[in-house]
Amino acid sequence: PGPSGFLGLGNLYNYMPIIGKYSWLELHKAGYDKYRKYGGIVKETMVLGQDIVWLYEPQDIATLLNGRDYPLRRSHLALAKYRLDRPHVYRSAGLLPTNGAEWWRLRSELQKEISAPKSVRSFLMAVDKVTKEFLRYLPKSQEVDMLPKLSRLNLELTCLVTFGERLYSFSPEEQDENSVSSKLMRAAETTNSNILPTDQGLGIWRHFETGPYKRLRKAQEYMESVAVDLVSQKLVFFKEDQNTEEDPDNLWSLRRNSLVEEYMKNPNLDLFDVVGMAADLLLAGVDTTSYTTAFALYHISRHPEVQRRIYEESLRVLPSKDTPLLADHLNSDIPFTRATLKEVFRLNPISIGVGRILTKDLVFSGYHVPKNTVVVTQNMIACRLEKNFPDPEVFSPDRWLGQAKGCINPYLVLPFGHGMRSCIARRLAEQNILTFLLRLMRNFEIEWKGDDEEMDVITLLINKPSLPVSIQLHERLY
Ligand code: HEM
Repeated sequence: PGPSGFLGLGNLYNYMPIIGKYSWLELHKAGYDKYRKYGGIVKETMVLGQDIVWLYEPQDIATLLNGRDYPLRRSHLALAKYRLDRPHVYRSAGLLPTNGAEWWRLRSELQKEISAPKSVRSFLMAVDKVTKEFLRYLPKSQEVDMLPKLSRLNLELTCLVTFGERLYSFSPEEQDENSVSSKLMRAAETTNSNILPTDQGLGIWRHFETGPYKRLRKAQEYMESVAVDLVSQKLVFFKEDQNTEEDPDNLWSLRRNSLVEEYMKNPNLDLFDVVGMAADLLLAGVDTTSYTTAFALYHISRHPEVQRRIYEESLRVLPSKDTPLLADHLNSDIPFTRATLKEVFRLNPISIGVGRILTKDLVFSGYHVPKNTVVVTQNMIACRLEKNFPDPEVFSPDRWLGQAKGCINPYLVLPFGHGMRSCIARRLAEQNILTFLLRLMRNFEIEWKGDDEEMDVITLLINKPSLPVSIQLHERLY
């Protein structure tokens, strides 16, 4: 079932300004509308010969994501063109758009450092230190729109972990709109927001430079120049590093190398791979984590009881404001804070779902879907259906605690995707967000100062809060 489109030619016009009933910026509304009209599986022809099948049922989502072949994704097509046109900088299109054996070559080498629990834990001390510094910089006793501030924190943390470098994004000089950090944040958002307009449709940008492609190209040129610069610096220091003295103020007190340094030591990766990976991390690391944390602040500041319980957990793991945060605490001592994050992901995942190209024919809800079809899950909509979650619009972390949790289908809340191709930085992102929430709650009470209207989302490839996340911080004395 699904819309056949104008004269059977497709539904792309439905997403066009003025004439269309849907918008790329509100894909969740389009998703809900199709569910209401057609049910739990929908076929939508975009242009002739290009179908998308949308899945809303958890058992179908499981069938899609539990395949054994290399998972194929059709996304970031214009980014792939940009990179493949520049063989002097990139050997491949990078992790985000590449499929097949080349994707696995990169993924299997890169994930050893970025996904392994031990490696992630070894970043905690430095992440905690920078997060404390960030809290000192936040304006107190006045209303603050937190999203731009959180983008600075997450850019800083991404550069720290990737290159072992500080940008000092919080400093007054870096607040200038022409500073490196301001330009990087803009370039990441510009790239992300031009992915969907280039992924969908006829791909005219392959033949001549359209507006969206030009914006993406310019943004990528800037991100690439920073990535190349930082990797080159590492290359020089890497050679000199053998005989340098240990610096006691070094953030890496555990003598942990940055990701780029580890990748440069890996004989299975060359410098082209390292630059590509660094560019991917800069692109994927900032907005994803910042938007999620902004949604978390929106919910927490509007639920005083939730805030009180996170504060209690923060007191347990950080008895004094100077106590260092330990990985063991994050693992076992903060169940309510973790449940809160899970509930944030249920209501406000940054992605409406996960996309795959079928590597073989499959059957979903009794319908035969042929190999090569693009299939996309609708987790965000499924997570707001009464049949999957009682009182779905209510923000309630307790659904993730005790017996209640056992009744929830594990294929509904999948904010990081699932399987071999799921987010490579999941543990790192969760560690960074939990560190921020615990430190923030330990030091401040937060008050919602924004609009009373419900927060919605705008889809710029990933879901951004539709309203400013306005918060006021009140310092806790102990
Ligand atoms: C709350 C934060 C984040 C969320 C919710 C998130 C979510 C996702 C999702 C849904 C995917 C696609 C998974 C799939 O197709 O199954 C993905 C892929 C990816 N993410 Fe994240 N992400 C987050 C943070 C990050 C960070 C901090 C980085 C890097 C520093 C990152 C790097 C990547 C990369 C490189 C991929 C592509 C992996 C591949 O294709 O093999 N993500 N992420």
